[in-house]
Amino acid sequence: MRVLVKLGGTLLESDAVKASLAGQVVRAAAETGVELVVVHGGGKRMTRFLAERGIESRFVNGLRVTDEVALDAVVKVFAGSVNHELVAALQASGAQAVGLSGIDAGLTEAEPLSPELGAVGRVVRSRPELLHLLTANRYIPVVACVSGDSKGNIYNVNADQMAAACAAAFGADRLLFLTDVEGVLDAERRLQPLLTVAACETLIRDGIAAGGMQAKLESAISALLQGVGEVRIAAGASPDVVRRLLDGDREVGTRLVREAL
Ligand SMILES: Nc1ncnc2c1ncn2[C@@H]1O[C@H](COP(=O)(O)OP(=O)(O)OP(=O)(O)O)[C@@H](O)[C@H]1O
Ligand SMILES: [Mg+2]
Repeated sequence: MRVLVKLGGTLLESDAVKASLAGQVVRAAAETGVELVVVHGGGKRMTRFLAERGIESRFVNGLRVTDEVALDAVVKVFAGSVNHELVAALQASGAQAVGLSGIDAGLTEAEPLSPELGAVGRVVRSRPELLHLLTANRYIPVVACVSGDSKGNIYNVNADQMAAACAAAFGADRLLFLTDVEGVLDAERRLQPLLTVAACETLIRDGIAAGGMQAKLESAISALLQGVGEVRIAAGASPDVVRRLLDGDREVGTRLVREAL
């Protein structure tokens, strides 16, 4: 089985949560034999990095407006600090982890999403060979949400979109989004155990899934439509969450499928 785990940037802000998740990922990979790829965000860290340098972050529809200065920071923070600290945590748990971004070996190629967003990219092509090479040899690839293109440009890609693109390219059977909420909540803030693509679209249209969750559901839909069998959204802080999700435990988080059977 192939699995892609996306770790939300907020989770990685806490050393304890980061260490716990790293341990869980490593144990799950060792005990179940799944081929596992990790993609991570880091939005809060990025906002802090820029603020410390007197630069205010600007967002349009939840996406960071990325001028030249912000792009340099994207590479430093996502592909630098956040990526390497996560790789170090995985190594400390006994894995052979390898830090990458979408630029490496042409893993992902992007195009500009819209002129007003600057260097924000949308993944349009991918070459998953490197992921297969690494996972087949029991390495855990850890991918930062930075993409290249065929002309040498660098793009900031939303981490959920990066996870969906990598999951589809890798041929993942499952895409697990670990985040800072229990799962997808309805208007009364009740956890939704199961959602179809159509139900996700309704939650977005009605404004119930907004901000970061809207981005996550849109990415989940894209992954499901590209052939990923199942997407799960769950709290990274809930005990033993990685193993429970891999074991198919339906009590945890939200399960997203293409359509109801
Ligand atoms: N219907 C909803 N159900 C659950 N969470 C929602 C909903 N609508 C909006 N949200 C927000 O979405 C957030 C999760 O997305 P967010 O982008 O903040 O996290 P992440 O993707 O895990 O982290 P990062 O973007 O740093 O990688 C929740 O903390 C919550 O505030
Ligand atoms: Mg997010």
